[in-house]
Amino acid sequence: MQCKVNVVRDLRAVLSLGGSVVASPEINLEFISGFASLVKRLRRKGHRLAVVVGGGKVARDYIGAARRLGAEESFCDELGILATRMNARLIIAALGGEAYRRVPESVEEVKEWEKVVVMGGTVPGHTTDAVAAMLATKLKAELLVNATNVDGIYSADPKKNPDAKKYDRIAVEELLKLVDREHKAGISAILDAKAVRIIEENRIRTLVVKGELSRIEAALLGGEHFGTEVVV
Ligand code: UTP
Repeated sequence: MQCKVNVVRDLRAVLSLGGSVVASPEINLEFISGFASLVKRLRRKGHRLAVVVGGGKVARDYIGAARRLGAEESFCDELGILATRMNARLIIAALGGEAYRRVPESVEEVKEWEKVVVMGGTVPGHTTDAVAAMLATKLKAELLVNATNVDGIYSADPKKNPDAKKYDRIAVEELLKLVDREHKAGISAILDAKAVRIIEENRIRTLVVKGELSRIEAALLGGEHFGTEVVV
């Protein structure tokens, strides 16, 4: 696909990469290597990225199993976090020397953009979307891109509701009304409520796009990404 790309200089962006994009359900090696090449290319142009990776199917399988075995929600969340950190390590493997080898366990540990920070979850009670919004705040990123398995934000889950309407732009206050308020381990939502509140409070420019390399690149560089802009 040909995508229009504007001239963006010295971008500082946080990318939230859904686990379903990295492993869907099998580990998506082609995506991961393509993503690593994209990140390297962007860095050569002076752009800087930090990446937060989701847990995908592995997280949901372990959370489902633990829940059936009687585990409490925070215990299930911990399993999800482990899966996110495994996926983060795959991205680190692909990035080689461009990335910090260590997966930070909290946003506070992240200090700079010198190499690519790749992390997963932090603590129970939210998803990696919230971690990405916290990291964007901590690093004063000018953009947050959420790459997921849907091509943007809809008025309802498009997989369950054929009448769901896709937004090209949505005000953050409207988005807050759409998202589930309550956290549950393995929750599948376009953005979790905590992430949306952080985006609102810190006025973080946010784009939600399908997790395809061309759309991620377009979202980062100001091109046609066919996703949704969250207006803050
Ligand atoms: P995510 O929900 O972030 O992964 O984490 P995902 O489903 O792959 O992401 P998206 O929806 O495609 O963007 C998996 C689970 O890990 C736990 C939660 O239970 C979450 O649902 N988790 C993750 C935490 O408890 N804390 C974190 O900081 C991150």
